[in-house]
Amino acid sequence: MSQHLVAPSLLSADFTRLGDDIEMVNRSEADWFHIDVMDGVFVPNISFGMPVIKAIGKTAKKPLDVHLMIVKPERYFETFRDLGAAYLSIHYEAVTHLHRAVHQIRELGMKAGVVLNPHTPVQLLEGIIADVDLVLLMSVNPGFGGQKFIESTYEKIVKLKKLIGEKHSPALIEIDGGVDLKNAGKLLAAGADVLVAGNTVFSSPDPPATIRALKHTV
Ligand code: DX5
Ligand code: ZN
Repeated sequence: MSQHLVAPSLLSADFTRLGDDIEMVNRSEADWFHIDVMDGVFVPNISFGMPVIKAIGKTAKKPLDVHLMIVKPERYFETFRDLGAAYLSIHYEAVTHLHRAVHQIRELGMKAGVVLNPHTPVQLLEGIIADVDLVLLMSVNPGFGGQKFIESTYEKIVKLKKLIGEKHSPALIEIDGGVDLKNAGKLLAAGADVLVAGNTVFSSPDPPATIRALKHTV
């Protein structure tokens, strides 16, 4: 069995009973909680902010994988550390001084992730890849759950895996957007280490079984 991780995205949870959905993930075979923070500027949508993440952190018993879709994310690194983020991922397209930002995240005691939009080539990570713990490849345009998977992602995974090997980087490859039970196997075969799934998990009639199926995909 492949050693990949599964990170359900709470963006697709039922917010009228968020505690129940968090408990479901706690009891499931999921590895992380994926938490999408949107500011209505970097992406055309606003998700949830600090009070909600604080509540999630109190109930969640697995690492928080926080995906920041916000401009000037460095304003909030310390806040997210205090809220319990284990992984903090920032968009390549949202920061000017990526090297400084990645090191600030690590110095605060979190794992540092860099996110690429679908149009951003992986080669742009050449100068930073050795210093990052996670690269999140967007396989939809960020901002919304339930969108259609972009097929060119497979090729990006292969290129990124090669770059990680060449630069002896510890980075995990995470895929976010449109992941389902049909494409999961092909994503893992291409080199993905972490599968994010929102709609696939939370719209399924049996979310724990869907998480198990994603986890046991080979
Ligand atoms: C989109 C978010 C995703 C989203 C994925 O901007 O980054 O994490 O929740 O949702 P699905 O799995 O439904 O495409
Ligand atoms: Zn995300």
